[in-house]
Amino acid sequence: MTAQFPAARPRRLRRTAPMRRMTAGTRLHPAELVLPMFVKEGLAEPQPIGSMPGVFQHTRDSLRKAAHEAAEAGVGGLILFGVPAVKDARGSAADDPAGIVQQAVADLAADVGDTMVVMTDTCLDEFTDHGHCGILTPAGEVDNDATLERYAAAAVAQARAGSQVIAPSGMMDGQVAAIRAALDGEGFEQIPILAYSAKYASAFYGPFRDAAECAPQFGDRSAYQQDPAGPIGEALREVRLDLAEGADAVMVKPALAYLDILRQVRDLVDVPVAAYQVSGEYAMVEAAAANGWIDRERAITESLVAIRRAGADLILTYWATEAARRLT
Ligand code: PBG
Repeated sequence: MTAQFPAARPRRLRRTAPMRRMTAGTRLHPAELVLPMFVKEGLAEPQPIGSMPGVFQHTRDSLRKAAHEAAEAGVGGLILFGVPAVKDARGSAADDPAGIVQQAVADLAADVGDTMVVMTDTCLDEFTDHGHCGILTPAGEVDNDATLERYAAAAVAQARAGSQVIAPSGMMDGQVAAIRAALDGEGFEQIPILAYSAKYASAFYGPFRDAAECAPQFGDRSAYQQDPAGPIGEALREVRLDLAEGADAVMVKPALAYLDILRQVRDLVDVPVAAYQVSGEYAMVEAAAANGWIDRERAITESLVAIRRAGADLILTYWATEAARRLT
């Protein structure tokens, strides 16, 4: 008998939908999706965000409704961002017990806290009048160590209000240790820290700054967030430091342009790794789809699969509720 050619036929396993389904190596599950949500103080009606079609600045009531929908769809968690009515140089609303994040997180913990994980982003940029992620020196630089005290106070206020995971995103050196010590000192030793460990100074955050009203009033965040072209090994160093400081899980952000970093982090650590599919990633797909240039649902699924395949255990995505519904 003559040998068949070609000898290997990888297409055999791709031929039918059941065959592809059975042999899939990457699966998505609603529980690993986390929905970022925005709540704004003093709003009468939810406000659509122009650069993020389908995403809203919520009122306290509309936030609760959207969180219920996410919980019903099986989404694993949510992460809350707040826009206060009044901003000042030190971001006073960040740790005010009556601040918008504290009020809203108490609502959410009571409403959906038994079904999904209610997390808070811990940073100052939404709360400062200058829009930077920390306290400024007279020369206009972000003062690392003065900022740590503010992060610690904000984290404690969030935990006291009912936040179930603290997620520091400001990229200050030592922020995880400072927050861990403060939480432990106030009796919150059981509250985990999800550290935004490898966070790049990215153009893909553009639409978020509309959503959270936190564009820096001068300069940019390059002096504290990582340079996309920064030193090889920088991301892994940040991750190692955060773990040594007590982080329970780590994050890479943004996602799609940093899948190489995500894979390296996944291979390095033995804690859960999260990836944040950020506002600009969302906006690009929505804008192209609105123009009829791309198949929206396929592009969403493909991007989530890519992030999962690169090693993310958790994916923060503005499509969490929609994607979870499609998966169940
Ligand atoms: C900072 C923070 C930002 C995002 C999450 N946390 C903005 C920034 O660093 O400028 C961006 C998220 C997104 O773009 O979806 N508190």
